[in-house]
Amino acid sequence: MIKIAPSILSANFAAMGDAVLHLKEQGADWIHFDVMDGNFVPNITFGPDMCKALRPLTDLPIDVHLMVEHPSDWIEPFRKAGADILTIHVESSERHLHRALQAIHAAGMQAGVVLNPATPISACMYLLPECDLVLLMSVNPGFGGQSFIPETLSKIRQLRAEIGMRNLNTLIEVDGGVNPITAKQCIEAGADVLVAGSAVFKAPDPTEMIRLLRG
Ligand code: DX5
Ligand code: ZN
Repeated sequence: MIKIAPSILSANFAAMGDAVLHLKEQGADWIHFDVMDGNFVPNITFGPDMCKALRPLTDLPIDVHLMVEHPSDWIEPFRKAGADILTIHVESSERHLHRALQAIHAAGMQAGVVLNPATPISACMYLLPECDLVLLMSVNPGFGGQSFIPETLSKIRQLRAEIGMRNLNTLIEVDGGVNPITAKQCIEAGADVLVAGSAVFKAPDPTEMIRLLRG
């Protein structure tokens, strides 16, 4: 069963609580929470305090995508803020990805790595046993509303084959430019979780959009 994770990056920042309150009844499975530091990516969003403020409003898992340098510094703050899933970029300044993934698990959260569009699947090969999920970026991180990069589909297929061959339970999550057309392609290629920002939050009927994305 495909999971849909609306990215609140595309929600109205002046009414964030309201957006999160409605996501469950609209059919969302996870809440995707994009953290940007103005260094790893050319944009700044929000951090653990926002997560803490939203936590009491929903029982959906909060899926924190750390687009930051030194991601390990944020494991403890996000644990305290009630995050459920933490993903870190392999391209970030973290030199000890394996250790960082173990630290996320030790903090009681699910852990994963994120690969930018130009990063080959081989970058996560030796990390897979420590990953509950791998997030494949289908746009260059930093902004919502960009177009899906089609080469991502062959990365999804390669990773699906590798996970199958090794008999792992690692989920494949895809993030960026997901709409009903690209969602279908991602699902056919073997994705498990689809992040959707503008598709959901700019839709006249988000419930219907989430239903459409599920295919
Ligand atoms: C991009 C973020 C995405 C973004 C997706 O840097 O990681 O999660 O919100 O937005 P859409 O779905 O509009 O491409
Ligand atoms: Zn994201």
